[in-house]
Amino acid sequence: MNQQPFNAEVYRGKNVLITGGLGFLGSNIANQLVKLGAHVTIVDSLNPRYGGNWFNLDSIRDKVTAVSGDIRDEELMTGLVRGMDVIFNLAAQVSYIDSSSIPFEDFDVNGRGQLILLEACRKNNRGACVVFSSSRLVLGRIIEDPVTERHPTNPLSLYGAHKLVAEKYHYMYFKDYGIPTVVLRLTNPYGDRQQMKHSKYSMPGWFMRLAMEGKEISIFGDGTQIRDYVYVSDVVDAFLRAGMTEAAHGRTFNCGSGRSYQFQEMVTAVVGTVGKGTVRHVPWPENYERVETGDFRTDISALSGATGWEPVVPLEEGIQRMFEYYKANRAHYLF
Ligand SMILES: NC(=O)c1ccc[n+]([C@@H]2O[C@H](COP(=O)([O-])OP(=O)(O)OC[C@H]3O[C@@H](n4cnc5c(N)ncnc54)[C@H](O)[C@@H]3O)[C@@H](O)[C@H]2O)c1
Repeated sequence: MNQQPFNAEVYRGKNVLITGGLGFLGSNIANQLVKLGAHVTIVDSLNPRYGGNWFNLDSIRDKVTAVSGDIRDEELMTGLVRGMDVIFNLAAQVSYIDSSSIPFEDFDVNGRGQLILLEACRKNNRGACVVFSSSRLVLGRIIEDPVTERHPTNPLSLYGAHKLVAEKYHYMYFKDYGIPTVVLRLTNPYGDRQQMKHSKYSMPGWFMRLAMEGKEISIFGDGTQIRDYVYVSDVVDAFLRAGMTEAAHGRTFNCGSGRSYQFQEMVTAVVGTVGKGTVRHVPWPENYERVETGDFRTDISALSGATGWEPVVPLEEGIQRMFEYYKANRAHYLF
């Protein structure tokens, strides 16, 4: 597999809306788009549970339009989608663990909220390409190795179930109304601007915080479970390509690094890079064991084939880059 050239310059002058754009992935997309000369609008509710953070826009604050608001606000979304060329749709309740304790909120944001955005597009702008950030957790217990897009979808959490329904909404609005939608099923993204406030999702961020504070990191079980960690600049590249590739419309793609790591290898990379922190193995808590998918190796050939994308940052390098970021900026990510 070789990365194919992509003329990211196509974003120059384009109008791009990013939902959840103050969060980890959305803000990294925003930072890249500003460099490319796009007109970026962000909508984010800054719900304290999640990773939304004004500091994520620190270097581009005066170059984007940032709206403090909720994707469930129909009137707001109607105004925001008008005139957009591309919509990167990342706003979400992000914690699969929390989804069972806040089931209605999870559905409201990850189900109904997505429908509100798509309805706003149907009524006001059918031409915008909508790229939706889904999750590997739509699949449930893994029975295929490597995992392709044809893997059965039997989610183990409400988060996975609602992400799956939102995938289907995006496909239906493509099929029925011709809105060019693309679904990216993310594996385990990590990197700069990732929340490190709590351990409900995005474990590399939380572990980096613990290591930098010289604290103990708990690994559930023996830590040999296989995961696919994908560095944020590779994820950004995937979103940008998906937003400009006609051959991707109406399709669902895996978006991971295509490399496999044991969970404990990720932890070792964090502790080794930071040079502090300790590791302890603990039994799986019941609420985590219930939703554990099993080993996950990703087949990313479909996305590569459609867009020429290839992830290029190995885990050790990504963790090093992340560490450099938090050495300089950690104070902005603690609350
Ligand atoms: N981080 C991961 O491990 C991971 C894995 C797979 C998929 N995803 C998906 O990627 C997307 C981005 O996640 P992230 O890691 O950047 O998380 P994040 O918490 O950093 O960002 C999510 C953003 O969405 C905003 N938001 C939440 N509800 C909103 C609402 N109702 N209206 C407007 N904004 C709202 C939050 O304030 C936050 O800024 C999400 O859709 C998530 O489900 C993330």
